[in-house]
Amino acid sequence: MEVQQFFYSSDNLGYLVYGTEHAVAIDPGAVDEMVAFADARGVTIEIVTNTHSHYDHVQGNKKMLKLTGAKFLDCRDLKARGFIEIDKERLLVFHTPGHMDDCLSFKAGHRLITGDTLFNGTVGNCFSGDLEGFFRSIKLLTSFPGESLIYAGHDYVRQSMAFARTIEPDNPHIDDYLDNYDPGHVVSTLADEFKVNPYVRFNHPFLVAAMAKQGLPVATEYERWCSVMEHY
Ligand SMILES: [Fe+2]
Repeated sequence: MEVQQFFYSSDNLGYLVYGTEHAVAIDPGAVDEMVAFADARGVTIEIVTNTHSHYDHVQGNKKMLKLTGAKFLDCRDLKARGFIEIDKERLLVFHTPGHMDDCLSFKAGHRLITGDTLFNGTVGNCFSGDLEGFFRSIKLLTSFPGESLIYAGHDYVRQSMAFARTIEPDNPHIDDYLDNYDPGHVVSTLADEFKVNPYVRFNHPFLVAAMAKQGLPVATEYERWCSVMEHY
C-alpha cells in the first residue's frame, strides 16, 4: 500500500492511498492531479472519503465522485467500519475527535494520515470543545512507533516552528526540523514531533517547568495537556 500526497488551495494536503489495482482518495481537493496520478499508475479510485467534514477538506468530493464513479464513505460510516480494504491490505481508520467531533485518522502501514488532528509541528484547534477527547486522540496517535510518518491536512511547518521557537528558543532540534522540511513533500516522523512539537511535548521537563512557573496545573498528564492547549 502506497501513499501519495497532493497539494491544493494555499496549504491543504490530500492523499491517495493505493495498492496494485485500487485507490482511496482522502480529502480530494486536488481532483485533477489525483485522477491523473491514478490513471498513470493504472489504479482505480473506488472510494472517496475525508479526515473530517470542514469545507476545505470535502470541497473536492463532488467532482471526484462525478469523475470516477467512486463510492463515498462519510466519517460516520468509516468510524463504524474501522478499516478499508485495498487490494487485500487494510487501511486502518481511527476516530480521533478534538479538532472536530467527526475527525478520523488513517494508518497505512507506517504512514499516518492525521488530518487537522496532528500537524507537522503543531496540532489543530480544538473547535469541538472536547479537550479530553483530543487528549485521547493525541495519546493514540503518539503511541505508534517513532519512525511512523505523519501526513497532515495542512502544511503549517514554518508557522509552527516559528511558534515553537517562542516557547523553546534554545531547542536545537527546531533548526534540524526546518533543514529537513521539504515544501514539495511535507512529512515528519513521530520521533521528530517529540523533539519539536510543543503539543506532544507536554510531558517534557522544560515545558512542564515553564508551565509550572506560570502557575498552570501540571500535576497530571491530562492537566499538562490542558495547560499547553489553553495557554499556548
Ligand atoms: Fe479542519
